[in-house]
Amino acid sequence: MRIPDITPGARVLAFGHYQPSTIVTNDDLAKNMDTNDEWIQSRVGIKERRVAGPAESLEDMATQAGGKALAASGLSAEDIDLVIVATCTLESQIPNAAAVVAHRLGIDSPGAFDVNAACAGFCYALATASAAVRGGAARHVLVIGAEKLSQWVEWTDRSTAVIFADGAGAAVVGPSDEPRIGPVVWGSAGDKSEAIAIADRDSFLRQEGQTVFRWATTALHPVAKEACERAGVDPSELTAFVPHQANLRIIEAIARKLGADQAVIARDIVHAGNTSAASIPLAISRMIERGEVRSGGLALLLGFGAGLTYAGQVIEIP
Ligand code: UT7
Repeated sequence: MRIPDITPGARVLAFGHYQPSTIVTNDDLAKNMDTNDEWIQSRVGIKERRVAGPAESLEDMATQAGGKALAASGLSAEDIDLVIVATCTLESQIPNAAAVVAHRLGIDSPGAFDVNAACAGFCYALATASAAVRGGAARHVLVIGAEKLSQWVEWTDRSTAVIFADGAGAAVVGPSDEPRIGPVVWGSAGDKSEAIAIADRDSFLRQEGQTVFRWATTALHPVAKEACERAGVDPSELTAFVPHQANLRIIEAIARKLGADQAVIARDIVHAGNTSAASIPLAISRMIERGEVRSGGLALLLGFGAGLTYAGQVIEIP
């Protein structure tokens, strides 16, 4: 027996993203529920979010984001041999989104599977892609985070409707002479699994906001520090910190405790809302597009959410 094509490292070649065109402001939401712009901005940090219409599916958004990442990578569909979609809001239980999206992008017979680790899903999928490339199971992997949370949120429930939104982000992962995706630190706290749930196909998303808020602001900065440590990077060397866009107060609390003073902190939530597994690739792709971070710099990604699950890793920005 032999294992072919072992490569010493993996890297992100490019990111891409897609957002639906409909913008929902806080004032729009206040027309249907007892909330207001001042509360949402001060407690969550969101000014507006994007929501897909009934005709726009999760697979549509994932295909758009994946196609953009593929184009930006300079590769073509035939170079991709594995597609992973991180999502927790797919309408159909089967088929998975990955096979559908791969087919739409003209990727011929790739490995294709979905990952459900909720808002941590993209970091889980990226770690899996990196391991697949390094282990010789795939040469190039398309990793997509895509969510249509709008179809699982009750639009009169102010505890969830003001937070969640729709969108997709994607990355192309390929081989590298040296590691440019650091070791993942991942884990879960299943004792708190009831804190965020969609109980069954007839239910809406419910969350115990304060339970999750307390956990996120106390348990995650050690994970962020460990991801840096395992990559051999001091937080002061980070060009960017891109945590899951859950709540601006959570983002700022973790950033403060991490001490990444030089890093640009992703605050995409202000205009994109909380898009669960899509939020990290969406945020970093938009930061790159706006020229806020330099190619070759180091970014710490940190996903966390329902499960409760978490995962983080340092990557080199493409
Ligand atoms: O992405 C998945 C992971 N999820 C998260 O990370 C979510 C973590 N949790 C949070 O982000 C926050 O807990 C929320 C944004 C969900 C809620 O913010 P909070 O500061 O924890 O508010 P709260 O639930 O403690 O409510 C404070 C007050 C209450 O009023 P009283 O009892 O103090 O009079 C609520 O009834 O704010 C009220 N309230 C609202 N008022 C206006 C709750 N929601 C709203 C609202 N608009 N939308």
